[in-house]
Amino acid sequence: MGWPMSTATKHEPAFLKALSGQTLSTPPIWMMRQAGRYLPEYRELRAKAGSFLSLCYNPEMAAEVTLQPIRRFGFDAAILFSDILVVPQALGQKLWFVEGEGPRLEPVADATRLGEINERADPDLLAPVIETVRRVKTSLPQETAFIGFCGAPWTVATYMVAGRGTPDQGPAKALFGSDPALFQQIIDRIVEASIDYLCAQIEAGVDAVQIFDSWAGSLGADDFERWCVTPTRRIVDGVRARHPKSRIIGFPRGAGRLIPRYVAATGVDAVGLESDIDRAFARDEIQSLVPVQGNLDPLVLRSGGPELEREVEAVRAAFGDGPFVFNLGHGILPDTPIAHVERLLAAVRA
Ligand code: CP3
Repeated sequence: MGWPMSTATKHEPAFLKALSGQTLSTPPIWMMRQAGRYLPEYRELRAKAGSFLSLCYNPEMAAEVTLQPIRRFGFDAAILFSDILVVPQALGQKLWFVEGEGPRLEPVADATRLGEINERADPDLLAPVIETVRRVKTSLPQETAFIGFCGAPWTVATYMVAGRGTPDQGPAKALFGSDPALFQQIIDRIVEASIDYLCAQIEAGVDAVQIFDSWAGSLGADDFERWCVTPTRRIVDGVRARHPKSRIIGFPRGAGRLIPRYVAATGVDAVGLESDIDRAFARDEIQSLVPVQGNLDPLVLRSGGPELEREVEAVRAAFGDGPFVFNLGHGILPDTPIAHVERLLAAVRA
C-alpha cells in the first residue's frame, strides 16, 4: 500500500493535475483524433493493416499508431486508438467501414432486429483493444497521461439504429418517439457494455476515460435529460462502483447551455467544450464547476496563419486562469497541415 500522497508526486502528468483541478501556467494539450490521417506515418500503417477495423483490432499496430503523435509532437496525453463502434460490434451487430465514407452497421430498427444482437458484449471481441492498452502503457513516457474512451449511449445508438452517420440523427429520434421502450433497451445494453469496457481499459492501465457524445447537441432539454444525462450518469456510477478513483471526462458536444446540468447530474470530473460555445458562459458557468477541455475550432487549425495565433490566445484568455486542458472542439481534420499543429504547440507552450 502506498502513502496517502503517493498519487500527487512531481512526476504526475500535467494532464492529470489539470483534471484534478489545478491551474497550470502552461495548459496540457492533446487533440481529439490526434492519431489519424493527417499523419503520413498513420497513413502508412493504415495501408499495411488493409482496413481501419483491422488496424483497431491489431494490438501491435494500434499501439504504434497511438504512440505516433506522442513521438512526433510530445502531446501531454495519448488517446487509445480504437473506435466507439467496437462496442456495438461486441454486442453482435455487423460493422464495416466504407472507404472515404464512414461506418456502416446492420440497422437495429425494430424488436426483431434487437433480438439479433446480444444483451452483453463479448469480452473476447474487445480483448485485442485491451491488449493495445497494456502495450501502450509500457511504452509511454511517465509525463504522458493515457486516455481510454467509449461512445456515449445516445451517440452509439444513433449509429446502431440508422446503420450509419446521419446529419440530424433522424432515425434514432424517430425510434425513441415511436417506441421509447425499445430505444431504452438499446440504451441499456450500451450502458452495461460501456461500463465493462471502460473498467477493462482502466484495469489495463489508462489514467482517465472520455465519454464521447458527439450528437448530444441535437437533443432538446427533456430528451437530453433522458437519453444523454441519465445513461451517462449510469456509466459514471457503474465505473466508480468498481474504480472509485477513476477520472472521467464527459464530452456532450454541442450541448451548450445544458452542460452545467450535465456536469452536476452525471458527476464527471471534467468536460469537453465544443468550438462554438459562448466562452464567457463556459468560463463562468462550467469551469466554475469542473476543469474544462477544448475548444479551438478544427477549421481554424486547418487554416493556420494569424487567425490561428489569435484564436489560441482567445481560448487561453478565456480558460487559462482555471483548470484547463487545451484541445480542439472536435477531431482534427484529415487535411490539416502538420506545420499548423507544430505552430499550435509552440503557441500554447510559449
Ligand atoms: O482520437 C483519437 O485519436 C482516438 C481514436 C478515435 C477514432 N474515432 C479513430 C478513427 C476516437 C476517439 C474515435 C471516436 C469516434 N468514432 C466518434 C466520436 C468522436 C467524433 O469524432 O465525433 C465517432 C462518432 C466515431 C465513429 C466514426 N469512426 C466515424 C463517423 C468515422 C468516419 C469519419 C471519418 O473521420 O473518417 C470513423 C472512422 C475513424 N475513427 C477514423 C479514425 C482515425 C478514420 C478511419 C480511417 O483511417 O480510414
